[in-house]
Amino acid sequence: MELLIDQSAVAQYEQHLAILQGAASFQSLAYIAAALLFILALAGLSKQKGARNGNFAGIAGMAIALIATIAIVMVTSMEPELVGIDAASGGSASGFAITSTGLWIAFLLIVVALAIGAAIGIFKAKHVKMTEMPELVAMLHSFVGAAAVLVGFCSFLTDPGAEGVENAWHIGEVGLAVFIGAVTLTGSVVAYLKLSAKISGRPLTLPGRNAINAAMVIVSIALIAWLINTRSVDAGLLPLCLLTVVSLVLGAHLVLAIGGGDMPVVVSMLNSYSGWAAAMAGFTLGNDLLIITGALVGSSGAYLSYIMCQGMNRSFVSVILGGFGGEGPATSGGGEERDYGDYTEATAEEVAQMLKDAKRVVIAPGYGMAVAQAQFPVADLTRRLMDAGVDVRFGIHPVAGRMPGHMNVLLAEAKVPYDNVFEMDEINDDFGDVDVVLVIGANDTVNPAAETEPDSPIAGMPVMHVWEAGKVIVFKRGMGNAGYAGVQNPLFFNENTDMLLGDAKASTDAILSAL
Ligand code: TAP
Repeated sequence: MELLIDQSAVAQYEQHLAILQGAASFQSLAYIAAALLFILALAGLSKQKGARNGNFAGIAGMAIALIATIAIVMVTSMEPELVGIDAASGGSASGFAITSTGLWIAFLLIVVALAIGAAIGIFKAKHVKMTEMPELVAMLHSFVGAAAVLVGFCSFLTDPGAEGVENAWHIGEVGLAVFIGAVTLTGSVVAYLKLSAKISGRPLTLPGRNAINAAMVIVSIALIAWLINTRSVDAGLLPLCLLTVVSLVLGAHLVLAIGGGDMPVVVSMLNSYSGWAAAMAGFTLGNDLLIITGALVGSSGAYLSYIMCQGMNRSFVSVILGGFGGEGPATSGGGEERDYGDYTEATAEEVAQMLKDAKRVVIAPGYGMAVAQAQFPVADLTRRLMDAGVDVRFGIHPVAGRMPGHMNVLLAEAKVPYDNVFEMDEINDDFGDVDVVLVIGANDTVNPAAETEPDSPIAGMPVMHVWEAGKVIVFKRGMGNAGYAGVQNPLFFNENTDMLLGDAKASTDAILSAL
């Protein structure tokens, strides 16, 4: 049969194919640009001064990635068709047509998905308090995990097991995406519940938990091998569903086994897992940018976890594997109640007088400063004292507050000069020469029990040696509540410590008035 086709239709058809080829090149270029911007974002965010530019680079990279992805989906959903007619039938040649139903369906789906995501994102961003950021981040990690599981299932259903090495790789990627995604999903949900105090922060120490975790990992590997060897949806669905269930239980158990004080490391570890889950989803989708971005998030999250473990004197392997082998205090939840004697109180006027008489003052802020939003009066107080010739410095513990860099963000917001802000390691040996330390809403991070009580849940965690100063003033609302790890703080009962009870912002305002 000979088909008659109008020459202009052929030209149009070829033009459209050229557009598709151009779109593929545009996609590669856009993805390279976005990947470079993501790397620049990480480089910028690693230093306080470059953080703003880093953020902009990240936003630009994400915008380029989104626009390129949507444009490509739209262009490739237009299916070109050359419509010819049988020469024998004697009719005249017809032409070139683009089937645009696919285009409009793709467009509609993208708009609906973007609208739902943007509405939830904007609502959350507007309402979340700074102190709730870690919970939000944990929740967002769970979405990445859920997305990887769904992409895995979708990819399996549309392209199930078949003969051939290439397909075996594909199904292996699906299995890994579902495994890592499911672990990230339930691990992040448990982290969210712990951080928001909806469940107890105490570690769940089941007998033989290490063996349980190891068994679940081995079963998951066996299920992935089974899945790879299936040749149809019907045959593969059982191992895939079993793999999902085992991985979901593993994720929950890994995080349940980690105690309250170690939650910062867990959050950054889940951040890393979510990156690997995204990278695996990138493999199953054949999306290079998702692979690069996932690998960046995965490796930087793992490195951050490692740094935080070093800062908190914890074993990296132990935390990554849900307290694997960690039978010590970090996961025991022990620490008995002790009687530390009586505490003494000071008034705002008395504290103002101490500050006036002091030459060297250090401020150790913690989570309570964030709750009270006391950073602004604290910055005013700092300026007043510095103007009066007092040397005022800030000492920042690596896990003060509820997220990495929490205190640095608050102090930068209140325009405290960077030069007066020191990391714990830079200032810890200087406390002996300090006249007054103001502990503003910090508790676990200044708890000497970490060094003196081996059975304490925070034993071994490095803390700021504020007790070595001449005088310590602790800002706190009452004596009933402990810090995040739930342990009593003997610092409060020392002879050189006075409690300034009340909301940290009100107390700082009162000191300012008295000055
Ligand atoms: P915490 O140990 O959490 O203690 C906070 C202190 O602030 C408490 O003494 C609390 O006592 C006081 N406080 C709360 N609201 C206050 C207000 N409005 N005015 C005055 N005081 C107030 O703080 P920290 O020393 O910063 O330690 C951080 C803890 O969180 C560590 O255990 C860390 O492992 C954990 N954690 C950290 C992160 C990251 S990445 N930074 C993430 C998750 C968990 P009152 O309630 O009596 O006022």
